Amino acid sequence: MKTAVLIPAAGMGRRMENPIPKQLIELQSKPILIHTLEKFEACESVQEICVIVPEDRIDEIRKLLNQWNIQKARDVIAGGEERTDSVYRGLEVLNSSTDIVLIHDAVRPFVSNQKIMDVIQAASEYGAALLAVPATATVKKVQDGFVQNTLDRNQIWLAQTPQGFRLDLIRQAYEKVVNEGIKATDDAALVEQIGHPVHVIPGDETNIKITTPTDLAIAETFCQMT
Ligand code: C5P
Repeated sequence: MKTAVLIPAAGMGRRMENPIPKQLIELQSKPILIHTLEKFEACESVQEICVIVPEDRIDEIRKLLNQWNIQKARDVIAGGEERTDSVYRGLEVLNSSTDIVLIHDAVRPFVSNQKIMDVIQAASEYGAALLAVPATATVKKVQDGFVQNTLDRNQIWLAQTPQGFRLDLIRQAYEKVVNEGIKATDDAALVEQIGHPVHVIPGDETNIKITTPTDLAIAETFCQMT
């Protein structure tokens, strides 16, 4: 079974209050993107990685991949306006001999090898799978400063990545995106829209997405603990 990984890393990270895109900020003197790629480089079940980056940083990122010896990342391509555009471009370059595609945010460097393997296994069994953790906070739907309704916390899970799919299924879901101009903040949502069930695997609390300066401080602490 052939597994490829798409790493969308073409965001500009405007919530980080930093001129450097968040995936290139260093943790322990190594860019976050490289920490993330090392997890997939080390995973025996992954054969190929495609990194999707801002167009004007392709050369810089190729150099980083050489410097840090990330050998599975043979494709470095330009991303698009939105995350869905970036992932779509990645799906286009994948060889059709690929069975399973994992899609993983560049800014989640703490994913474990076990969870990567669990997602690959579940994606091959069910067609689509993701990691998620149960919500610990109560989630309110808010509009114009007032609560519209309170969601039942027992049914709320927070999606993480990697999310894994059979190649034919995720390509079919993305065709709908292109044809109907749909935007989504994760890939599983697109598969849900074409009516295919998505299997949920309990994730780890430590698999955080580094988005804000506070997340970065938490990430530094995680690094010091390991
Ligand atoms: O913006 P958000 O935090 O949801 O980004 C999640 C991931 O998607 C990040 O790794 C980011 O670099 C990537 N992204 C992308 N292309 C975009 C926007 C975001 O590859 N146009």
